[in-house]
Amino acid sequence: MKKIISIVGARPNFMKIAPIHFEFLKYRDSVQHLICHTGQHYDEKMSKIFFEELNISKPDFYLGVGSGSHAVQTAAIMIEFEKVVIAEEPDLVIVVGDVNSTIACSLVAKKMNIPVAHVEAGLRSFDRTMPEEINRILTDSISDFLFVTEQSGINNLKKEGVDESKIFFTGNVMIDSLVQNLSKINSSSILSSLGLKKDDYILCTLHRPTNVDNKESLEKILMTINSYAEKKKIVFPVHPRTRANMKEFGIGTDLSPNFLFTDPIGYIDFLCLIKNASFIITDSGGIQEETTFLGVPCLTLRNNTERPVTITTGTNYLIGTDVSKLDSVITEILNGKMKKASIPAFWDGKAAERICSTLTNSIL
Ligand code: UD1
Repeated sequence: MKKIISIVGARPNFMKIAPIHFEFLKYRDSVQHLICHTGQHYDEKMSKIFFEELNISKPDFYLGVGSGSHAVQTAAIMIEFEKVVIAEEPDLVIVVGDVNSTIACSLVAKKMNIPVAHVEAGLRSFDRTMPEEINRILTDSISDFLFVTEQSGINNLKKEGVDESKIFFTGNVMIDSLVQNLSKINSSSILSSLGLKKDDYILCTLHRPTNVDNKESLEKILMTINSYAEKKKIVFPVHPRTRANMKEFGIGTDLSPNFLFTDPIGYIDFLCLIKNASFIITDSGGIQEETTFLGVPCLTLRNNTERPVTITTGTNYLIGTDVSKLDSVITEILNGKMKKASIPAFWDGKAAERICSTLTNSIL
C-alpha cells in the first residue's frame, strides 16, 4: 500500500483537491490518500463549508497555523508539516496552486527526499512582487511531477529548463470540481435568497494586496464599481482581508443601496452567482478560469495574469489596476458585444483522472 498526502490550506485549494481525492478512491486497494489541512484559512466560511459542500471527509491532519506574516505563516506550516511527514512517511506529497501552504509543504517533503507533485504547475504572471509568483517558481523548481492546466504552463517550464519528462498536460482540476457539482450549482437558491435575477447583477470579489491593502486604491475601486449600481445590482462577498481593511480605512459606508455586501459565500452558491451574473469584476486567479468555463465575462483588476488562456481563448478581459479602464469594456458587454470565447483544451472534468493515472503508473 502506498501513502499519498495532499495539502490544502487556503480557500482555492479545497476544490482542487476534492476531485483528486475522489479519483484515488478507485485505487483504494493500493493507495491510501490522506488530506492535510494547514489551517492557513480557518474561518468557517473560508474553510469548513468547503469540506461539507464538496463531500470530502474531515482532513486527516489539521495543522492549525492560522494567519501571520509570510515568514511566520510559511515557517509555522513547515514546522508542523515536518512532524506529519516524520510520523507518516508518505510515498508522495501533492500540492496545488500557489499559496504559502503550497511552497511550505513542498519544501518540507523535498528536503526529506519525498517526491512532490505540483498540480497547476507552470503558471507565471512574471510579476515577482506577487507572493504567489514566488511560491509558483519555487514549488515548480523542486517538484517531480508538474501537472499543467494550459499550454503556457508547458512553455514556461521548458524555458526554465525543466526536464520535459516531468511535465504533464492534464487539464484543470478546478473545472473537474465545477463539472462534478453542476447539478447542485443549478439548484442553488442563492439568487432568490439575495433577491437577484439572472443577469441583473454584477458579481465582485477583491482580495489582492495591491488592490485592497491601500486606502486610496480600494476606495477608488469601490467608488468606480458603485457608479454602475444604477444599471445593475452589485453583489460583493467580502474576503476577510478586504473587510478588515475597509473597517480600518473607514470606507465603503456611503455606497448605493444596490451595493450588496455579504460574508464569504460557499462554493456551490458562489458558482451559482458566477453562472448567472451579467459579468464579474475580480482580482482572483481561479475565478478567471471558472468564468471562462461558464462563458461569463470576467473583468480582471490586475496588470497581469498567470492564466493567459482565459484571455486568448476564454471570457477574461485584463483591465489592469486603473479602474477607469473598466468603462469601455462594461459598455461593450452591456451592449451585447462580448468577445467570442471557447473552453480551453482538457478543461473537460477529467483532469484528476489523468493526474491519478500518471501518478499511480509511476509509484505503484
Ligand atoms: C491567500 C493566498 C492567495 C489566495 C487567497 C484566496 C498566499 C500568499 N495567498 O491570500 O494566493 O488567492 O488566499 O483567498 O498564500 N483571514 C481571516 N480568516 C481566514 C483567513 C484569513 O480572517 O480564514 C484574514 C487574516 O486577517 C489574514 C488575512 O485574512 O491575515 C489574509 O489571509 P492569508 O491567508 O494570509 O492570505 P489571503 O489574502 O487570504
